[in-house]
Amino acid sequence: MSQRTLVILKPDAVRRNLIGEIIGRIERKAGWRISALELRELSREVLEQHYGEHVGKPFYEPLVEFMSSGPVVVLAVEGERVVEGVRALAGPTDPIAAGPGSIRGDFGTIVRENLIHASDSEESAEREFKLFFPGAE
Ligand code: TYD
Ligand code: MG
Repeated sequence: MSQRTLVILKPDAVRRNLIGEIIGRIERKAGWRISALELRELSREVLEQHYGEHVGKPFYEPLVEFMSSGPVVVLAVEGERVVEGVRALAGPTDPIAAGPGSIRGDFGTIVRENLIHASDSEESAEREFKLFFPGAE
């Protein structure tokens, strides 16, 4: 079942020069392909829509501060079961709980600075794709 997912390499990943490392892991999965990719800074407005489910939670403000602290890489990836697949490559939200071999497990220590966002469902993926790449197919 071919799908599309929306991935963000967070400001910590860009600052630490891990773009190639992380994209390399995604690119090596059989049959997946990158269909959109851009380095950009995210506004508070876009982040509020992106993280709408978390508005009002204690970690929301520090999360927005962090996510707008420098450039990110936004990309769309297409392929077989890619929504579930990129979540699996990323690992659990808490990098210390994430196992070795996952992106968060291999490179992260802090929950907020967990390197990568990946859509959690096909519905989220379509909503997020439209938010970050408006006007694209
Ligand atoms: P969430 O959607 O729960 O995690 P995921 O990115 O795995 O889907 O949370 C969104 C981001 O918010 C998460 O990647 C890091 C940050 N966050 C915190 O800073 N503290 C927290 O306690 C939680 C749950 C998330
Ligand atoms: Mg989430």
